[in-house]
Amino acid sequence: MCGIVAYIGPRQAYPIILKGLKRLEYRGYDSAGVALLNSGLKVYKKKGKVADLEETLVGKDLHATIGIGHTRWATHGEPSDRNAHPHVSANGKLSMIHNGIIENYGQLKQELENKGYTFSSDTDTEILLKFIEDIQINNKSGLEEAVRIALKRVVGAYVIVIIDEDNPDTLIAARKGSPLVIGIGKGEHFLASDATPIIEYTKEVVYVNDYELAIIKSDELILKNLGNEKVTPFIQKLDLELAAIEKGGYDHFMLKEIFEQPDTIFDCLRGRLDAEAGTITMAGVQNHIEQFKNANRIIIIACGTSWHAGLIAEYIFEELCRTPVEVEYASEFRYRNPVIHKGDVIIAISQSGETADTIVAIEKAKEHGAFIFGVVNAVGSSIARISHAGAYTHAGPEIGVASTKAFTGQLVVLMMIALKVAIEKKTIDQKRYLHLLNELQELPDKITLMLREKDAIRAVANKYKDATDSLYLGRGYNFPVALEGALKLKEISYIHAEGYPAAEMKHGPIALVQETLPVVFVATKDSYHEKIVSNIQEIKARKGKVIAVITAGDEIITKMADDVISVPEADEIVAPVLSTIPMQLLAYYIGVAKGYDVDKPRNLAKSVTVE
Ligand code: F6R
Repeated sequence: MCGIVAYIGPRQAYPIILKGLKRLEYRGYDSAGVALLNSGLKVYKKKGKVADLEETLVGKDLHATIGIGHTRWATHGEPSDRNAHPHVSANGKLSMIHNGIIENYGQLKQELENKGYTFSSDTDTEILLKFIEDIQINNKSGLEEAVRIALKRVVGAYVIVIIDEDNPDTLIAARKGSPLVIGIGKGEHFLASDATPIIEYTKEVVYVNDYELAIIKSDELILKNLGNEKVTPFIQKLDLELAAIEKGGYDHFMLKEIFEQPDTIFDCLRGRLDAEAGTITMAGVQNHIEQFKNANRIIIIACGTSWHAGLIAEYIFEELCRTPVEVEYASEFRYRNPVIHKGDVIIAISQSGETADTIVAIEKAKEHGAFIFGVVNAVGSSIARISHAGAYTHAGPEIGVASTKAFTGQLVVLMMIALKVAIEKKTIDQKRYLHLLNELQELPDKITLMLREKDAIRAVANKYKDATDSLYLGRGYNFPVALEGALKLKEISYIHAEGYPAAEMKHGPIALVQETLPVVFVATKDSYHEKIVSNIQEIKARKGKVIAVITAGDEIITKMADDVISVPEADEIVAPVLSTIPMQLLAYYIGVAKGYDVDKPRNLAKSVTVE
């Protein structure tokens, strides 16, 4: 949440910052702002998107070779010009951007108010900046020292970057709990929340760790811990191309990412799954195979769409590995007093690898001695680094705020892990194992076929776009797919959607069914097929409108449903990858038909780095 960008070097900072903010807008788009240093501090900020800020700055003198920029997802204080970052210190010399939440802001504010400070925004950021300023003045210390002292008092999560009018050749940055990447150019440095604003300038980056402070000049990067000891920066090479973060001719990132799925699944399988040889190569699993085999329990922790992937994994691991699985919302797990044993395996699932609740839940499980396996998309992200082992989903950067290709990537990785553990544990027979390897291998081609249905799905979307409520129902492996379908629709089209196990519908939600209620059934051919046919009849008997996602050629449901969307035939274990795609397209086309900004749905942000 919130995107930060900063630059120091010989080039003009503003165009670099502006472009970077546009790339990071997926992290928040309530307001945007920049602060530039050029014979004095200039701060410009505006409620709304980065383009709104850009418009107001036309014709202004924006010359500067050092600057900071921010795109906000509001936590403290409504989206407004005055709450937008960067914030400015009381003496007008310091300016700061911040991503995260200062939890003890109330206490710090009280202390500052007692000393006569006033505040021009409702943000925790302004409080932290003035707290730093106060230490700087009272201790007569330099800014670096003041930041260090202040951060020792701070409870919460932050990345901050500060510029100082009195020290115009230095940026000071620090991190705890929110991401910060520093790009190293020739005589210049780029700072950002992720690598996307940086890759067109340099591929050499340093991921700053928690409790580290960076003192950055054009030609120098010093990293220190909060104890003022130097830390050697670990320089990594980015494995990312510019094309991967551009729209490439599609109207929206979300559509591009949906259509990338044959390739992302192929990349996810590549080098791992060999159906002919009957092998799955995953070093992270192989190196810890005894832990997986002997696990008394697997606990999956995640949020949102990643949590839905966890629910599908629960069915798969229990079926194939015969290991009990619990799937937990990270936000609940971290505050409960969960029973975790040393032999438990924790699988943490995250696209961004930066979700605050998932990170803290991992730390909690680690304290209890659990083994943590990360299933992560963003390479080098916090969760990838704090897990004991893991497997990347290799879906590439996901920029549309609603998760699509990362979800199917998570499913495929989780399926491969389950199969690998099951064959080692001998809880699956060779024939079924080989069959499922083939099924996985065939997924990219089947997804390509599925995507050819896009016009049919668009027609269904146009038919139901004016609905105000909807139900999504599924059973077994398709129940979490229904939950995911409902989440996608809510996010993108703002239509109220509820996901339910199809049989559970009788215990309450059926009261909602009437002629105007679209009910989406995820009803591909599996061991629950007969049962779900009965559930469809129950809805039809009450005049609900049924949209069914079926296996191609399913005459029975075709006759009953008002609209059908076909997916290619597949084993029930891999079918969720296919049945998810119509859910994504349906939500997308309804959102577009309603004229919404599907890549940046209201109130949402891609990377939820606050709890
Ligand atoms: C929904 C969506 C969110 C994320 C959730 C977890 O489309 O994208 O529900 O799945 O915020 O994020 P990650 O996977 O980055 O931990």
